[in-house]
Amino acid sequence: MRKLFIIGIGTGNREHVTMQAISALNQIDVVFIPTKGDEKAALAAIRHEICDRYISRPVEIREFPILQRNRETPDYRQRVIDWHDMIAQSYGKLFADMPDDANGALLVWGDPGLYDSTLRIVESVKEQTGLAFDIEVIPGITAIQALTAAFAIPLNTIGNPVTITTGRKLVSGWPDGADSVVVMLDGQKTYAQIAPGNIDIYWAAYVGMEQEILISGPLAKVRDKISAAREAARAEHGWIMDIYLLRRTSA
Ligand SMILES: C[S@@+](CC[C@H](N)C(=O)[O-])C[C@H]1O[C@@H](n2cnc3c(N)ncnc32)[C@H](O)[C@@H]1O
Repeated sequence: MRKLFIIGIGTGNREHVTMQAISALNQIDVVFIPTKGDEKAALAAIRHEICDRYISRPVEIREFPILQRNRETPDYRQRVIDWHDMIAQSYGKLFADMPDDANGALLVWGDPGLYDSTLRIVESVKEQTGLAFDIEVIPGITAIQALTAAFAIPLNTIGNPVTITTGRKLVSGWPDGADSVVVMLDGQKTYAQIAPGNIDIYWAAYVGMEQEILISGPLAKVRDKISAAREAARAEHGWIMDIYLLRRTSA
């Protein structure tokens, strides 16, 4: 039976790779690495380095192009569903080419369970193609853990819940019930569009990586500095990944 390891590799620091991930990497015959665009090229290079550094047996590395989303579909959810369907089809072809008893791997950024669709897509490959394969998931360090560690802060305040959300959702208002909000997947600088009173921000770009940038402070005071740093870094590297924690303060 074919087996597919879905391995969380952390967020760009080669030392985020866990012992469990290294053990899985050394059981595989083929690694599938997605490519395309500046960001994907940088992330593909890190995946290659992880393979070179941690795999000590012969392994085939198969790159494949990630198809781009059709930006013309008006509904966001439908756009994502269609895009995942397209990716599922290309995964289906890749997996079908694996020998029956081979082990394959997808190296997922951060943890496969957090804002990542690999697990959903792989399930739909099974449904669409009827291909049989086992799946084993190896957890990884998430951007949230890298963020809180970089600032040496706890994620939550004592006894309180935390909301994890996207820039797209934050635009419509502060989530109910939490004093700590983690925002991911925000290409629109949503922190600069909300009322900044009584909020501290802990912002990190490329967290854990060589290019890491960290800025924190009262939102009203540092939001312009963050926007300037974000734009400069994006221009310099051609891509950016950032994450932030917003914390309501009592004063
Ligand atoms: C598609 S999600 C993947 C999340 C990933 N599965 C995880 O566990 O962190 C991509 C988002 O994660 C955040 N992210 C991932 N890696 C990051 C990094 N090294 N620095 C800053 N943000 C990062 C950003 O908010 C980015 O938009």
